[in-house]
Amino acid sequence: NMKILFLGDVMGRSGRHSLRDHLPQAIKDHNIDFVIANGENAAGGFGITENICNELYSYGVNVITTGNHLWDQKEITSYIDKDQNLLKPYNFAEGSPGLGFNIYELANKEKIAVINIMGNLFMRSCDNAFFKIEEVLQKIDVNDLSFIFVDFHAEASSEKMAMGHHLDGRVTAVVGTHTHVPTADANIMEHGTAYQTDAGMCGDYDSVIGTKKQEFVRKFATQDTERKRVPPADGIGTLCGVIIESQDNNFLAKNIQSIRIGGKIGS
Ligand code: FE2
Repeated sequence: NMKILFLGDVMGRSGRHSLRDHLPQAIKDHNIDFVIANGENAAGGFGITENICNELYSYGVNVITTGNHLWDQKEITSYIDKDQNLLKPYNFAEGSPGLGFNIYELANKEKIAVINIMGNLFMRSCDNAFFKIEEVLQKIDVNDLSFIFVDFHAEASSEKMAMGHHLDGRVTAVVGTHTHVPTADANIMEHGTAYQTDAGMCGDYDSVIGTKKQEFVRKFATQDTERKRVPPADGIGTLCGVIIESQDNNFLAKNIQSIRIGGKIGS
């Protein structure tokens, strides 16, 4: 039995500060054994650095997952092989640095597998997620694990739901990231896997998906197609994620609950 907290995309400084301000207390309040956060937008919306990994670990994060923005900060290509707690999507190009999944042992000897994989629909190209996830599942001994977590970093809710059902009964949880808006569909599927289409971001919700609202609105309103980076919004962030607990005698899910703390949409 293991109880984990998964935090959606940590967006810039507002996102990081929502972890600083609320994560330690949330870990205590909910008796969390293990914290996973998607950190691919933690450095000003674009990628992550060694310093920011350490900052997130200092707030209580155990493992950081990522996605399409992983390589945005140049230093990360040489850093990722030194940090076993920072994951890349498993279906990134063969030979690229970093791990796409890993197994972690807690102090009580229980083990969790964390798997990071990226969608193919409306995303930059990477290997087929549905084929590649089979490769990961063949490499792990599920009966040795208390928890198997999948962060599916994808744009389309259809692809995310399909992946949820594809893995139903074979992992503890499939939770989506990347779209930065929490979905209200947390549930345990037919064969015992917990699922939510998107965990939502940790960041400033007075924004357009965590970036400065004025600039994003202007882009749409003026049909500006220039691919200019919009900086993150810098108001007070909401900590946003899901808590999932596994069964006492197997890795299937016992329950799933969404949480939102602080900021504009937190309780
Ligand atoms: Fe993303």
